Amino acid sequence: MPQPSASDRRQSVRTGVVWDGVRRLLDGDGTAAPAAEQARIVDVGGGTGGFAVPLAELGHTVQVIDPSPDALASLDRRARERGVADRVTGQQGDLSDLPTLAAEVDLVLCHGVLEMVDDPAASLAAIAGVLRPGGHLSLLVAQRHAAVVARAMAGHFQAARELLDGDPAAGSGASRGGRRFTHDELGDLLGDAGLQASSVQAVRVFADLVPGSLLDLEPGATAALVELERAVATRPEYLPLATQLHVIAGR
Ligand SMILES: C[S@@+](CC[C@H](N)C(=O)[O-])C[C@H]1O[C@@H](n2cnc3c(N)ncnc32)[C@H](O)[C@@H]1O
Repeated sequence: MPQPSASDRRQSVRTGVVWDGVRRLLDGDGTAAPAAEQARIVDVGGGTGGFAVPLAELGHTVQVIDPSPDALASLDRRARERGVADRVTGQQGDLSDLPTLAAEVDLVLCHGVLEMVDDPAASLAAIAGVLRPGGHLSLLVAQRHAAVVARAMAGHFQAARELLDGDPAAGSGASRGGRRFTHDELGDLLGDAGLQASSVQAVRVFADLVPGSLLDLEPGATAALVELERAVATRPEYLPLATQLHVIAGR
C-alpha cells in the first residue's frame, strides 16, 4: 500500500477532528441528528472539494457553491476522477446568494468562509434559511486567541496587542487575513440567526505549533498527533488555544 505523502499527513492532522464531527452527525450518534443515509448537503465555499468529494463517496449528494472558477474546475476534475460526478454539483456563487441557490437541505458546510464575508450575521441567517427544520450547520472558523499567540510568537507584538481585545476587521469587513472569532462571539452570532450549537470542538490545538519536519521524520508521529488533537477537541479549556473552532449547530 502506498505511504501517504507529507502533505496528506499534514492535511489529516488539520482536518481529522472536523471529519470526526461531520461523520458523527451524518452517522447519527443519537445526540446531533438522525442518521441520514443520503443527505442533501450544501458546501458553501467548498473550494476544490476536500470535503464534498469524500462526502459524495459516502453516498451523499453535495452542492458546492464557491465564487472561484478555478476551484470549481478542480472540484469537477476531482469528482470525475473519484467516480462521484453524479453526486457533486459545482455552482459559481457567493454565500449571500445561498437563498436563491439552495433550499431545504439537511446539512450546510461552511468551513473557512465566515472569516471572509462582508456580514457574518447576514451570512448565518442566509444559511439558517436554507436548512430544513431539524437540519444542521457544520461551521469551521478561525479562533482569535490562538492568532494572538501566533503573532506574539512570531515577534509581531503590536499586531498581537491589537488583536487581543477584538478583531480590527470585525466592524469593517474582513481584512486580508480574515476575521477571527471567539467562542462567545460565535455563540451570539449563531443565536441571532436562530441556530443553536449542539457541539463545539477545538481544532488544531497543537498542529500549527509542531514543526512539519518532526511529522515527516518521526515514524508514527502524525497518528499520535491526530490522537492527541482528538483527545483535547471536546475539552472546553482547550477552545481558546485552538486555531479553529468547529461548531455543529441545529435549526
Ligand atoms: C479557506 S478556503 C476553504 C475551502 C474549504 N471550505 C475547506 O475547508 O477546505 C475558502 C473558500 O471560500 C471561498 N469563498 C471566499 N469568499 C466567499 C464567499 N463570499 N462566499 C462563498 N465562498 C467564498 C473561496 O473561494 C475558497 O474556496
